[in-house]
Amino acid sequence: MMIDLRSDTVTRPTPEMRRAMAEAEVGDDFYGEDPTVARLERKAAEILGKEAALFVSSGTMGNLVALLSQTRMGDSIICERKCHIFCFEKGHVSAVCGLLPICLEGDRGRLEPEKVEAVCLGESPLYAATRLICLENTHNMLGGLCLDVAYMRRMRNLADRLGCGIHVDGARIFNASVALGVPAADLARDADSLTFCLSKGLACPYGAVLAGSREMIRIARFKRHMVGGGLRQGGIMAAAGLVALDTMISRLAEDHDHARRLAEGLVRGGLIVDLGAVETNMVFFRLPDGAPEPEVFLQRMKDGKVLCNPPRGGNWRLVTHHGIGQADIDQAVHSISSALGG
Ligand SMILES: Cc1ncc(COP(=O)(O)O)c(C=O)c1O
Repeated sequence: MMIDLRSDTVTRPTPEMRRAMAEAEVGDDFYGEDPTVARLERKAAEILGKEAALFVSSGTMGNLVALLSQTRMGDSIICERKCHIFCFEKGHVSAVCGLLPICLEGDRGRLEPEKVEAVCLGESPLYAATRLICLENTHNMLGGLCLDVAYMRRMRNLADRLGCGIHVDGARIFNASVALGVPAADLARDADSLTFCLSKGLACPYGAVLAGSREMIRIARFKRHMVGGGLRQGGIMAAAGLVALDTMISRLAEDHDHARRLAEGLVRGGLIVDLGAVETNMVFFRLPDGAPEPEVFLQRMKDGKVLCNPPRGGNWRLVTHHGIGQADIDQAVHSISSALGG
């Protein structure tokens, strides 16, 4: 068996999810008649302390629909340079939404208020007025770093002063919630909208949820339809989401423990890891001087039964998840450390 550390998206639905999907009560969600979708949306809104929520096909669609619902073509958003919305969503910010993305270098995934204030564009005949500050919690490309409640409060105060909203790409918001030991609702309180993914650490086969005010979600429902994301008997997928919200959140702590064990093992094995940056279920490492070429290293890892994506800018990312046990972690430490030596 391969130890697949490429992403937490490789997780498979649990037997309980499969059962719930098979038995789900369904209807045509376009007519508002799918009770299981409605239950998922109510429950997600409740967990996040928001008025309403919308079931969408993916994190990307959640972010896209959030932007479409809260901006107009010719507006701008401010985001962190390595965030998912800017780097990995096929440019929908400009290609679909017609927005100007203003990217800032963050500090450990955090936009700095002074920098945001300096680039924020006000209402004027000349400017692409800034409507949203987009934050990512946890931050994928920076190794799963969390934004805490105090930071969110500061950003809310800033956004209010600047007259813009806050969207959180919370694909892994429950990882942040578990790692920080605070309810997800506390992390969502200061956001106008938040997307979270069901199909990552929560192990669902499909889906994400966008949450916000009743009015924002009413508009988002239209926008979802506009981009082809309307659902019919969506309850079959929503059923897995309901199981995930009941059973898969608190267990994320296990993934975080595994990430720490992995990180510490890799340091012992001679890899370069910033242990202070291991906060949730991701470990980023770099190769020391004299290490084999990346293609060779990747192949050696594979020979040692470890799957990992190729590095980006010299950073290798490993992600722990439901399908990975402690024995897998120990085997991975052994294989990756051995790949250094040959
Ligand atoms: C931070 C973040 N946001 C959004 C997404 C997009 O999610 P999806 O793959 O469901 O479109 C991802 C996917 O990895 C992500 O890591």
